[in-house]
Amino acid sequence: MLSWDEFNEEDTTTAAPATAAAQPTSQTAAKLDNDAAGSVEEARAVAADDSDAIARAKRALDDLDIQEGLNELEGESARVRVDEKRMINARADLNQLVPFKYDWAWQKYLDGCANHWMPQEVNMNADIALWKSKDGLSEDERRIVKRNLGFFSTADSLVANNLVLATYRLITNPECRQYILRQAFEEAIHTHAYQYCIESLGMDEGEIFNMYHEIPSVAKKASWGLKYTRSISDPTFQTGTPETDKQFLRNLIAYYCVLEGIFFYCGFTQILSMGRRNKMTGTAEQFQYILRDESMHLNFGIDMINQIKIENPHLWDAEMKDEATQMILQGTQLEIEYARDTMPRGVLGMNAAMMEDYLKFIANRRLTQIGLKEEYPGTTNPFPWMSEIMDLKKEKNFFETRVIEYQTGGALSWD
Ligand SMILES: [Fe+2]
Ligand SMILES: [Fe+2]
Repeated sequence: MLSWDEFNEEDTTTAAPATAAAQPTSQTAAKLDNDAAGSVEEARAVAADDSDAIARAKRALDDLDIQEGLNELEGESARVRVDEKRMINARADLNQLVPFKYDWAWQKYLDGCANHWMPQEVNMNADIALWKSKDGLSEDERRIVKRNLGFFSTADSLVANNLVLATYRLITNPECRQYILRQAFEEAIHTHAYQYCIESLGMDEGEIFNMYHEIPSVAKKASWGLKYTRSISDPTFQTGTPETDKQFLRNLIAYYCVLEGIFFYCGFTQILSMGRRNKMTGTAEQFQYILRDESMHLNFGIDMINQIKIENPHLWDAEMKDEATQMILQGTQLEIEYARDTMPRGVLGMNAAMMEDYLKFIANRRLTQIGLKEEYPGTTNPFPWMSEIMDLKKEKNFFETRVIEYQTGGALSWD
């Protein structure tokens, strides 16, 4: 392979005649264009020593209809103006990323890339020792680890599938699609992280990955989400009428506000609480990075939903507001049931009743974030340390410190 120096040398030798030539005038530029067109045709001509396969490849290109290909690309064939860009049902060319209309989407894409991490970078040794030791964890603590790995290992796949099979196609804005691609990769990293924990701890993989079929409190959450994917993942489904636009909006609310915004919170709180008590610190560290990614996914989803509302105010009528409220309340109820199932008794300084308060507090936030009124007035947050952990993302050097910490075998500091 060439080194950069060799590459430069090579480049200078071959480019020498061109650089020695005078600056081309418009006449010489036209001549260059004609010459280039001639040489392109020459390259296509079948030569005597071409094999049959090469000759067939060249001839096949003679029949290529460029216009037909371009017509199939989405959007109109013109330079894009910012005012033509829209979240849904845009006619502007989707293959032209700039000029940006939604700077927040591009900024989130950059922030997501800056937060990049991989599960193998986290030291799992302490977790393995604790999980295998007979009196390391109580039965209730073990139940929490297993249930959450069971729920999350499939939930992130559901989110990823919904993103790439439904959301991506229907969001007609390239800067948002750029973030969705980043998010889809992050969901793959999350599924990888759960698999990495399950494998490191030597758990029964069949039992954990199949939990969403076998444990009712996990199964209910999964099927609640799947219902919304099913309604729009049909490849012939299109937005463009008030009813189909609303159907898509329901999907965004289901996934961003409920799945990523409520269904993850009992499990995150339980695992992070374990980490704060110096138990399963590797697993907790994985969950901490996942929570950081998820809070950005959630904020991105909220921004998309609110932008769709601004651009299509007719969709956000009384009926839709009531439906959105109902979806968030149903999600909260399912998460409360999950909290009771995963915590039959008090554990890790928390219990199901405290979690219920926390989930109502979270539900109020989700409602107000998309412009709806609080349904659990007066609820306070029993776990203020959760907000502190989420705020870690604001610290610019968070990622760098992690690299040093895992190399020295330590975990993040928990207060
Ligand atoms: Fe995720
Ligand atoms: Fe996510």
